[in-house]
Amino acid sequence: MKVEMKLKGNVARAVNPYGCKQEVLNQINYVKEQGAYDGAKKVLVLGASSSYGLASRITAAFGSQADTIGVSFERGPKDETMLGTAGWYNNIFFREFAEKEGLIAKNFIGDAFSLEMKEQVISYIKESFGGKIDLLVYSLAAPKRTDYKTGVTYSSALKPVGQSVTGENINLEKEELFTQVVEAATEEEIEGTVKVMGGEDWEWWIELLKEAGCLADGFKTLLYSYIGPDVTHAFYHDGSLGVAKEQAEESSKRINETIKDINGQSLICVSKAVTTKASVVIPILPKYLICLYKVMLEENTHETPIMHKDRVFRTMLYGNEANYDERGRLRPDSWELSDATQEKVNELMSKLTADNFKTDLTAYSLFKKEFLNLNGFEVEGNTIDEVNVEELKAMKP
Ligand code: NAI
Repeated sequence: MKVEMKLKGNVARAVNPYGCKQEVLNQINYVKEQGAYDGAKKVLVLGASSSYGLASRITAAFGSQADTIGVSFERGPKDETMLGTAGWYNNIFFREFAEKEGLIAKNFIGDAFSLEMKEQVISYIKESFGGKIDLLVYSLAAPKRTDYKTGVTYSSALKPVGQSVTGENINLEKEELFTQVVEAATEEEIEGTVKVMGGEDWEWWIELLKEAGCLADGFKTLLYSYIGPDVTHAFYHDGSLGVAKEQAEESSKRINETIKDINGQSLICVSKAVTTKASVVIPILPKYLICLYKVMLEENTHETPIMHKDRVFRTMLYGNEANYDERGRLRPDSWELSDATQEKVNELMSKLTADNFKTDLTAYSLFKKEFLNLNGFEVEGNTIDEVNVEELKAMKP
């Protein structure tokens, strides 16, 4: 059968597995073109199957020859109407490419928040991964989390805090700019978002790994956060997700205490806004992104997740160009947030209308292409759009 892109609002309902394969390969080739660097060699990535987590895994494996374990929540194919998720195929093809180079690439599919998953990964590290890891990347973006200590399930909500916000957003399915009112989060929604997207589960992973003796001397761990410019603060940095990320900073401080005796380092890495399945559903953010990308393209600083994470690992985490802020956070988002860039972005945003947002005034076409690429469509170098469901079913993560 032939695969075709289907959209429901800003959510993709179709996947081209071979486009995903080519996209993983394109990212690998990007890293290889930058050359080798000496970074972590035993890496655990939570949320490894797409965007920032996948990019982190690729730069670790193909830039620094790291063995990797990836944990993600993805679905495989069932029939012609349900071919599974892009992340399912990203995991499969990443493993194939890594194994070809003699690297370990173990995929765990399931709930990273659960105790079972933590236990499985720890057993695997002890029995088959050399016993210790030297880097843990926490890159989960999830709608729900069950706290296994209490059995309570929490949901995250991407909403402002204190007051509703009105702004314009982009519907990728209809290619329309529309006005959106986002109601303020309730106390329960804020609490839920903190539980899902804050740092508690990150702390639990580190505690269990430490107790099991699985953290190497000099171990590092990082969680990805976003701050963004003033125009996005109401619904992000000052919103429920921002509250959760603030909590993650507190977690990072506690983790630093936990791993002090092994010369460990825990970091919040404030990353650039990029096109991912998580970011395109953040209210109002897409409008900012099409303007930001236009300006950063002109300034020659536009980055996709692989470009951004490769730079973070190579020049900051394992290089000597790390830039920290007064709170000790790593700030690779400094290009996005430079005053000169933001001034131009603001000016562009003020000119945007329903009629002109798709024109060359903005980077709408790049934004849409990056979005399609996430599900294997319009990927440079891919020519296959015919799939055989039985063949797909035979592929295992
Ligand atoms: P994404 O949606 O592309 O990836 C999320 C990953 O989490 C996937 O691998 C998914 O399978 C996994 N996942 C979700 N629920 C899971 C569960 N219960 N168990 C195991 N795995 C699960 O998200 P994206 O955008 O790469 O975000 C990753 C992190 O980066 C998030 O913390 C986000 O806040 C942060 N970030 C994202 C930015 C952006 O512009 N996209 C900017 C700055 C930070």
